[in-house]
Parts: sequence; structure tokens; C-alpha cells
Amino acid sequence: MGGPNPRLFVALAITIASPLACSSPKDTPDASAPAPSASLAPAEATSAAPTPPKPLSPAERQGSVIARSRTGDALFVADEDHKVLRRIPLPLAPGAAATEVPLPGAPAAVLPIDDGVLVTIRDPGLLLVLKADASGALTEASRVSLPADAWGLAATADARHAFVTSAWTHTVSKIDLAAGKVVWSADVAREPRGIVALGSGEILVSHLVGADVTHIGEASGAPVVETIGVMPSPVRAPSGKKVHASLGYSLVTSPDEARLFVARHAVGALARRSWFGQPTVDVVLLPGKNGRAAPEQLAATHVGGLPAQKSRVADLTMTADTPVSIPGRDKGPFTQPRAMVYRAKSDTLLVAGEGDDVVAELDAVALDPTLAIVRIFQVGQKYDPGYGAATECGAPSGIALSADEDTAYVFCRSTYDVVALDLAAKAPVDPIVRDRQTLVHLADDTLSAEAQKGRRLFYNATDPILSGGLGCAGCHPDGRDDGHVWHEATFDTIDGLGTNFVGAYENIPDLAKTKGFPRRTPMLAGLVNAAGPYGWHGESPDLGARITAGMGLHRWGGMPQNIGGAAVGRASLVAAFVREGLVPPPRENRELTDKEKRGRELFLNKGTKCAHCHVPETHYTDRTPYPLKRLPPVSGFDDESKLELKTPSLRFVAGRAPYFHDGRVSTLEKLVEMNGDRMGNTSHLSAEDREALVAFLKTL
Ligand code: HEC
Ligand code: HEC
Repeated sequence: MGGPNPRLFVALAITIASPLACSSPKDTPDASAPAPSASLAPAEATSAAPTPPKPLSPAERQGSVIARSRTGDALFVADEDHKVLRRIPLPLAPGAAATEVPLPGAPAAVLPIDDGVLVTIRDPGLLLVLKADASGALTEASRVSLPADAWGLAATADARHAFVTSAWTHTVSKIDLAAGKVVWSADVAREPRGIVALGSGEILVSHLVGADVTHIGEASGAPVVETIGVMPSPVRAPSGKKVHASLGYSLVTSPDEARLFVARHAVGALARRSWFGQPTVDVVLLPGKNGRAAPEQLAATHVGGLPAQKSRVADLTMTADTPVSIPGRDKGPFTQPRAMVYRAKSDTLLVAGEGDDVVAELDAVALDPTLAIVRIFQVGQKYDPGYGAATECGAPSGIALSADEDTAYVFCRSTYDVVALDLAAKAPVDPIVRDRQTLVHLADDTLSAEAQKGRRLFYNATDPILSGGLGCAGCHPDGRDDGHVWHEATFDTIDGLGTNFVGAYENIPDLAKTKGFPRRTPMLAGLVNAAGPYGWHGESPDLGARITAGMGLHRWGGMPQNIGGAAVGRASLVAAFVREGLVPPPRENRELTDKEKRGRELFLNKGTKCAHCHVPETHYTDRTPYPLKRLPPVSGFDDESKLELKTPSLRFVAGRAPYFHDGRVSTLEKLVEMNGDRMGNTSHLSAEDREALVAFLKTL
């Protein structure tokens, strides 16, 4: 096994000391890359080489949490929680001697190229190139500094360029691998995650927050960023409405790049008892010079031209009694989509559902693949009766296919296992498949015993006490937020009145006469250390109380079930995890600019009074509820009589729009502009001072 490369740690120190790379290529500190040496100059070597390496296929161009080596002799796992890259020899066998390479930070994705692997590192933001040394051990060959929170990874077919999404710093970067340099970094919408590099050189990016997909082309070598409005779950959206989407971790294309598939959560989509919305795989026809199929043609292919194996799912008019009748189901085929791959030999998609511990195989030719289930592998098993989460293969977060596409390898994030699934097995009569092949346990959790269980629960969406539909990670992905304003509504249920979060007004049953109160999801990572109080109104005295109160809100019709202390027990496990296990987003560690210093003066100044409530020493909050002057209700929500709202922390505020409990403001600039003297005093500030104040807020 390769020990840490000494160069790696020297370079790391430089990276920390230098300001973060920001969105202009010339600012990128190349100094943090290791000094080039003879063995590290593949540029000339490649161009002079007589036989160019075999081009990467569309599937091979995409990085993932788990990937198969190009020769097929090993799997690589980017193990974020242990900050290592794991190499597991194939064929998968329980005692197989997996090796690990320590990394300078938590990895997010790995992509094998011909003579090595590319790995994204979240904080500090890096793209590492690892290559095998003489003994075959992987060691760092080079690195490129990137905007922090480097996450999604893709490469061009010739593996000369890589593309990386930086989630928190909302950028997409193009990297010249031979030169070890950032070609450009482009600013995009919040939380870019999944990334596809098309054969044409165009880039497509999915986001954890919001329904749109970002398209990046190039003009004269500079990025051109465009937004593609992709309707989430069109079949299930309330009529005439584009619903909010979240959890856009992954997107893939069909092998011919004619269709794009985006797996995510459609908040507010309709189905029976679907208070939380519906998981969805949205299909986009990509324009191309060969003339793409129109939707009607796709539908025709779907009904008429399916392989025999899938004929049973072709019938979308099934009744509620058929096991695969999705319109009759309360939930879709998976919960909290986390990863997706395209299986070309059957034209199916495999989607990992982090919340219900499944890998769902769906018909990729269907107009709505979530309505055409081939089968669902229940990878999570051995649910602990004490706390309700899977103890084997919980929270699947990555899928890799074998070369013949007959085996899927799945990495499970909350238990650190890899399992193999037999895709060649005959399609079952019961779509739920419990057979797994080999399970390899890679590592134990390093958190305290309580927090380990809490981690498993944090992703879990099936425990009826904790959730009943969507896990914590479904609304607080990565411990951050979904950018959504939920409706907290009280309505009639079979058991009386229940209070519930619902995704959209249309999710509230007809009986309801309410629209619900607005509740923007707050971020948790790095913000839950205080004793209390918690909740927008500050109504929960401590963290455990808030989580217990939340359980009633995260279930159809409310009903917290604290039978035998079960709810309180689970809440304390999850509380331990959110404090110990969630990783706060990266923050720039640098001197303030003059403008930001001016902003800080204003913030601390008695005239503006910001620091009076947003106390700097306690994460910019005094945690006290204040009745701010009433504003007109936000459209689509009820007006709330209880005006007192807890001062929210301003830590990380730049990265978590929209603002206020009702999400009524989309940017900090607008927030200060419309504030007047409602919250502290800003009406007397000049335009320049307002700018300075905002600039300071963005450093928090
Ligand atoms: C359906 C989406 C949803 C799910 C699922 C969800 N939350 Fe929340 N969470 C919210 C919203 C919205 C709020 C704000 C509610 C309020 O304060 O009235 C919130 C508030 C919180 C708070 C209070 C934060 C603060 O600063 O006051 C904590 C802590 C929290 N959630 C933890 C959790 C945990 C742990 C889970 C899993 C058991 C969970 N949440 C599941 C949406 C969700
Ligand atoms: C009287 C206490 C108080 C003072 C003074 C105050 N705030 Fe606030 N602040 C609040 C409360 C309460 C909220 C939440 C209001 C809501 O959600 O509707 C808030 C929300 C915010 C938010 C949005 C945070 C989020 O997560 O949505 C920002 C930004 C903010 N304040 C900045 C400022 C600035 C800048 C000043 C000084 C000009 C200031 N505040 C003065 C109490 C205060």
C-alpha cells in the first residue's frame, strides 16, 4: 500500500496559506502544485506517443464515489468520512486485501484514467492525480488547486481535460491535466454537483438546490453559462406549476448522448400521501445534429420496442394491486437519489436511493422512468430493532458497473460496505430483490457509538418513528439545506388533527383550509453546537427537543410516536451525529479587504445595531426571538400570528439563499436594500456602505 507522498503534505501547507482559488484562471495559485519533475511531464509524452490511449466512453468519462479501474482488476472508493481512497481488488471477495491511500482532505469522486486515477478533494479544493509507482502503489503525481468543495468530476474522451464542480463555492472549473492548470472557472447557481462532459465538449451540471440544469459551452476558449429549465416530475407536478427540486447529485446521458437523465427529488410533486413530493428521474432530449427522437417517438419505442424482459413494466395502466403499479404507491421506487448509472445493454438506469437503502433499476426508454420499474434491489439489510436503521449496506451512495454490465458494485456510505448485485439474474416476479452477492465491509465508523447510530439514522427515510418518507439528509443534504420553503400545515387526518411539513400547497389534502406557515430549511452543519433554543420561533429549548418535535412534522399527519421513549432515544442519537459528524462548509481563511473591513465596522457599529442581535462571539446570533415589524405574507402561505423569530446565525450566510424564515429574499444585496430600519438600521447608509456591509456578510 502506498504511504502518503511527502510532497503532498508540503503542497498542502502552501494551499492553506494561500488565498482560495477564485473564479479567474489567473488567480489560481499554481504555486500549490508540486514542482514538476521529469516523471510528471506527461504532456509531451502523450502528444508524441505513437498510440494514443483508448478514448473514454461516456460512462467512463464520469467520476463517482465508486469506480472500476479501466483494466477491470479493482474498484476505487472515494471514502469521504475516512479521508482515504480505497482500492478493492476484483473479483470482490469478503477477505479481499483492500488498500487505502490517505488523502489531504475528504474525497468526493474518483475517475480512473489510463495510467492512474483522478480524485476530487472537498476542502482544500483540489484535483489530485494519483499514479501507480514501481511497486504498484498509488501515490500522488500532481495536484491542481480548485475553488473549495471540489465535488463532481468528469473528463473529456481523450482524458486531456477534466471538469470539476465546486459545490459550496458554486463554480465549475476546466482543468488541463497535462499542464496541471485551471483553464477557466465559471460561476454557476447554488450547489453544483453532478457533471457530464459531452463528446462535443459541452458540459451539463445538476444542482442540489433548484430545478435547473446548467449548460456550459465555450466561445473563444471562455465558458458560456446557460440555464436549462428542466421541469421536475412533469407527470406529477400540480397542473401548470414547475415544482422545486433538490438532491440533484447525479445526471447521466444515454450512450448516444441523445437523452439526459437527472435524478432528484421533486418537492411538491403529487402522489398519494406524498407530503414530501416525489423522487424523479427527469428526461431531457439533447439537441444534436443527428436529429433526436421526439417525445411521441420515445413513447412509441417504450410501448412497442421494449426487450422482452421489460414487457411487464411497459403497461402503464396497471391497477393499484399490481406490485409495480407506481401511481398507487405512496412513494416512488427510491428515496433520496444519490447516484445513477446507465446500463447500456438493457437500456435501464440504476439509481441509488440513500433514504430507503435501495438500488432501483428503471426503464430508461420510458417517458418517466420512475413509472417503469424493472426491479428494486434492497441493498440495506439487518435493520437494528433498537434504532431502526440498516446495519448492513445503509445509505448507498455510489454505483459502478462491471465491464460486461452484469454486476453492479454499490458503496454504502453509512456502514462502509461494498456489495455486488447480480444484474444478469432473470427479472423477478416480485420487483423487490433481496439477493445480494458478496458484501465487503471496508471500515468501521470513527465517530462515538451514539453518533455512529445517528449517522445511519440521518440518512434513513424508512424508520416510522423518525421520518416516514424523507430522512434528515433529504432536506438537510450534507447537513446543509434544500433551499426550500416548506409549508407547516395543520390538517385533518384519520386520527384527528396533525401538523406536517408539506412540499407545496397542493400536497395538503382537500379537506384542509390552510396553506401552511412558511418554513425555510435551515442549515445544520457547524450551526448546532449551541445548547439552544432551536427552531425559527426558538420554540424548542434544546437540540434533542427540536429533533423530536421535527419527527412529528416529517411524517404524514404528524403523530410523534414516543412509544417507550423511542422518539427521544433516536433524537439523542441523531443529535450526537449532527454535532460530531457533519462537516461545516469551507470558509476562506484570509485577511479582510478594505471594503470588508468597512462593512465590519458598520456591522459592529451602534448605529446599525446588527451586532446587538447577531452577536459575533456566539456565531452571530443571540438565539433570542424578536418580533420584527410585520411584512405582507408571502404568496401561497398563510399569515402567521406569532411574530417572534429567533435571530438566525449569520455563519455561512452567503451560501444559503433564500433568506428569512419565509425565503422571501433571494440575495443579501436585496435583503439590505429592503431592510430600511426594520432590523437594526440601514436606511441611513450610502450605497457604498450597503455594499461594504454585504461584502462583510459574505465573509461570515
Ligand atoms: C421535510 C424536510 C425536513 C426534514 C425531513 C428534516 N428537516 Fe430539519 N428542518 C426543516 C425545516 C423546514 C426546519 C425549520 C423548522 C422550524 O424551525 O419551524 C428544520 C429545522 C431543523 C432544526 C433546527 C435548526 C435551528 O437552527 O433552529 C434542526 C436541528 C433540524 N431541523 C434537524 C433535523 C434532523 C436531525 C432531521 C432528521 C431527523 C431533520 N431535521 C429532518 C426541514 C426538514
Ligand atoms: C432585533 C434583532 C436584530 C437586529 C438588530 C438585526 N437582526 Fe438580522 N435577523 C433578526 C431576525 C429575528 C432574523 C430572522 C427574520 C426572519 O426570518 O424573518 C434576522 C435575519 C437576518 C438575516 C437572514 C439570515 C437567514 O438565515 O435567513 C440577515 C442576513 C440579517 N438578519 C442581517 C442583519 C444585519 C446586516 C443587521 C444590521 C443592519 C441585522 N440583521 C440586525 C434579528 C436581528
